[in-house]
This record gives sequence, C-alpha cells and structure tokens, in this order.
Amino acid sequence: MKEVLLELERRRAAAREGGGQRRIDAQHAKGKLTARERIEIFLDEGSFEEFDMFVEHRSTDFGMEKTRISGDGVVTGWGTVNGRTVFVFAKDFTVFGGSLSEAHAEKVVKVQEMALKNRAPIIGFYDAGGARIQEGVAALGGYAEIFQRNVLASGVIPQISVIMGPCAGGDVYSPAMTDFIFMVRDTSYMFVTGPDVVKTVTNETVTAEELGGASVHTVKSSIADGAYDNDVEALLQMRRLIDFLPTSNTADLPELESFQSVSDPDYSLDRLVPDNANKPYDIRELILKTCDEADFFEIQASFAKNIVTGFGRVEGRTVGFVANQPMVLAGVLDSDASRKAARFVRFCDCFNIPIVTYVDVPGFLPGTAQEYGGLIKHGAKLLFAYAEATVPKITLITRKAFGGAYDVMASKHLRGDINYAWPSAQIAVMGAKGAVEIIFRKDIDDPEKIAAHTKMYEDRFLSPFVAAERGYVDEVIMPHSTRMRIARALRMLRNKDLKNPWKKHDNIPL
Ligand code: HXC
Repeated sequence: MKEVLLELERRRAAAREGGGQRRIDAQHAKGKLTARERIEIFLDEGSFEEFDMFVEHRSTDFGMEKTRISGDGVVTGWGTVNGRTVFVFAKDFTVFGGSLSEAHAEKVVKVQEMALKNRAPIIGFYDAGGARIQEGVAALGGYAEIFQRNVLASGVIPQISVIMGPCAGGDVYSPAMTDFIFMVRDTSYMFVTGPDVVKTVTNETVTAEELGGASVHTVKSSIADGAYDNDVEALLQMRRLIDFLPTSNTADLPELESFQSVSDPDYSLDRLVPDNANKPYDIRELILKTCDEADFFEIQASFAKNIVTGFGRVEGRTVGFVANQPMVLAGVLDSDASRKAARFVRFCDCFNIPIVTYVDVPGFLPGTAQEYGGLIKHGAKLLFAYAEATVPKITLITRKAFGGAYDVMASKHLRGDINYAWPSAQIAVMGAKGAVEIIFRKDIDDPEKIAAHTKMYEDRFLSPFVAAERGYVDEVIMPHSTRMRIARALRMLRNKDLKNPWKKHDNIPL
C-alpha cells in the first residue's frame, strides 16, 4: 500500500509542477503568479478541492503524443470565499501557453456544469494563448461548448472573469459572456486578433497594450469592469466582490454584520448640493455616506464617468447603486453612460439585488456624435432595463431631473417603489433658460420680461413639489436623513413580489 500512496504523491507532485520550474520562473519573472498560486490566494486557506488533475490531451498530431502534461493547461475545482462555495478554473500558462485543447475544454465544462447544478458562482483566471493550434477543430468545438454553458448560466449564477496574462482568440469570448471582466495592469491584454494579424490585415502598427491592455478595455472599449496593479490585489478584490454577490438567482442576499447605525443623521449632506445649480459636487460622497462603513465596490469606474455604478451594503445587505455624476459632463446621459448603467441594472435584477438610484441629470447629451452613435437605442437600453426590473427600486432626486432623463432614471412611472427627492430637487422638462427661450420667444429681446418669465418658471417648476403634488415623488426628505430613509425603505421592500408577464425572453434594443 505504501508504494501505491507514494505513487499518488509522485503523480500529484508532477501535476503541480505544470510545465516545469523553468516556465514557472519565467511566469514569476513577468510579475505573474502561477495558476495554482492564484487559486490559493483567491480561495479560503486550504479550501481548494481540485478536479481532473491527471487529465491529459489526446492529440497525436505534430508529435504531441510525446508531450502529455497532467492537467493539460488548466487547473479546475472549487473552494470557498469567506465560507461560501465558489467554482474556479485557472489557465496554466506554463503548459502549452494555457492553450485550449479538447481535454482542457472538458475540464472547464465540468466545473461550469458543477457550478450551475450547485448554484454557486464561477470565476475564471485567464492567462493563455487561445486554441491549441495542434488540435484544430477539436479546440474550436471545445470553446463553443464553453460558450454555450456561459449562456445557459447567465442570470442564474454569477460568472466572473479575471484576465491575468494574454487572452486572445477563442479565449476572449467566454469572458465576454460572463457578468464581469477584470484585468491586471501591464501584464494582461485581450483581443480577438493580435498585433501581428492586425499589421497584416489593416497595416496598423500597434502594441499588445495599445490594442487590448487594461488601459484600453477599462477606459475606451468598456470590455473590462476594472483593473488592478498586480495579481495579488486583483485576487483579493475578487474575494471582496464575491462577498457582495448572492450565490444564484434564487439565493438570498449575503448578509454581513454592519457596524454603523442607520439612524444617525449626517448633517454634512445638507450642504452637499451647492447653491449654484451649475456647480458640480461629487455624488460618490452621497453613495459612500449611504453605504455601511463607506464600503463601495465600483464597477467601470474609469468608463462613462458621468454615471457611477457599483455595490454597497445597507444594514449588511447588498445594494446596487446607480448615480448620475455631476462632476463629469454635468451628469448628462450619453450612449456610454446609458449602456454602462443598463448592464448594471440588469445584473442587479437577475440576482435580486435592490437598486438605489441617485438622480442629478440635466438630460440626454445633444449632438451629431451622439445621434449618429445610436443614442436613441443606447438610451433605450437603460430605460428598458429599469422598466423591466422587478427588484426593489428606490430613487432619490438630489437636484436636476430634466426631460426624458427624468423618466429613465427609475422614475415612479417605471415602477419605482419609493421615489424620494431632496428639497433642492428640480423636476422639469428642461432648465429655466432653455424653457423660457422657447415658450417666450417673442420676448427674447426684452431682458426684463425674460427675467420675469424665468423667475416664474423657476418658482413653479424648479422644485420637487410639482412632482410631489402628483405623487410622482413619495416624499421630500431631509438630506441628512437619507441613509435612514433608504434603509427603512429597503427593509419595507424585502418581501416585494412582482412578476413580469410570461415571455420566452424580452427583446431589449441591442
Ligand atoms: C499551442 C501554444 C499556443 C497555442 C502558445 N503556445 N500559444 N501552443 N497553441 N495557441 C505555447 C508556445 O508554443 C510556447 O511553448 C508556450 O505556449 C509559451 O508561448 P510563448 O509564445 O513562448 O509565450 P509569449 O512569448 O509570452 O507569447 C504568448 C502569446 C503567444 C502571445 C500568447 O504564444 C501567441 O501568440 N500564441 C498564439 C496565439 C494564437 O494565435 N492563438 C490561436 C488563436 S485562434 P514552449 O514549449 O515553447 O514553451 C483561436 C480561435 C478560437 O483561439 C476561436 C473560437 C471562437
């Protein structure tokens, strides 16, 4: 028996070596951790249960039969994050550059199916060279098997991808179908075709970083939801993210202990909105002062900064925040902001996370660039997302809620459950200047009359009270009581039960 046990130990040790010490050293020299090191940092200590450690590829082309390595370029299994089950797979760049063979794909599919069956999140760590070139169509088929399972799991369990090295070709599309993608700065990049192919086809000269580095995908393309300076930081932040997420679309919200009372007023909020309606202020301050312990996990912080999205907690339970940001483009809604917020709202709705919306929006961004870029369709995405969402929806208008943007931003008319306004709210079709110039055009050359009309318009419309008179705003609240009012509303809405009519699926404008 002793020999048998030793043989197992020997085989395990060989599998853990992956592509060998030389390649592990090369990985470290690039500032990257190995697949197993990543899993070890991400999961609770000692909780990793590995599957398929001894799986090898079955290819015999190009002399591949002489190069079988246990594990075949991906480490898979499950473990816990702060005690909650999570399924993982990590591409092992030391084995055939982490490239995907048929057997490698089968390992990934197995954890995908385990995660779906057992209703737990799945997270993939990417560092790979795409399809195993020696396997041809078997590798392509393997990718499609993975994609299919991504789609079936979408909206059922949270799926997260972390790009920690190269991620090209077939490897990009599975992450693209997951809920969130995060990257590591300087060591990771994502593209469908690399710089060499780009040069051949389009004659563009571009580096990997310029084509698909974190600086591109977090700022320009919005493919990635965030980026971190190194592997360790990324992995620890993923543990933090997992703590915010329910394990599935039928699971309760995770409940953490909260150390901060919700009943203490915060008088600094009474001074947050400046007297001058054109002066900006940072809406993040309001979010942080609403969240327990100011703990806010922002999604897409570097893209479409005119809207802020992310997770916080109130009384220990996860809340999704969506907020116009007056500091950037006056908080206007444009195509990018609409797409960003729509996707976030839909994630929250899939996973029963209540949505708190802070509104200070001067309208949609005018101009040919926006119209040619499909503003109508992109704006409609956000409208659609809020309108179909059945989770608790709490909205607070802090200042401007003008025009169509008033409707879109979780208004009462889109089944907002609780719609609050601060006394500083201005709810109208448009600001005073634009309105007066249109409806009193005949007086445009008479400054006195224009001033009088403007005053009249401001007094009548630039307040929360016209909306409150109609019940479109449930209550005008004191800014200093915001956290308490939102906490109470969330408590009241815990058993909310609202269903949309049966349909195969909706047809959101894409
Ligand atoms: C087989 C691969 C491989 C691949 C890398 N390797 N990619 N083996 N198939 N796709 C192997 C290398 O041969 C090498 O083996 C080891 O992995 C490390 O690779 P290096 O090139 O030495 O590393 P580096 O210089 O860091 O470059 C990494 C890389 C590069 C940028 C990822 O390897 C590369 O360009 N690979 C090919 C990428 C690609 O075109 N993939 C196919 C995409 S098409 P040794 O033994 O020397 O260490 C695709 C279609 C799917 O994915 C579509 C589905 C929708």
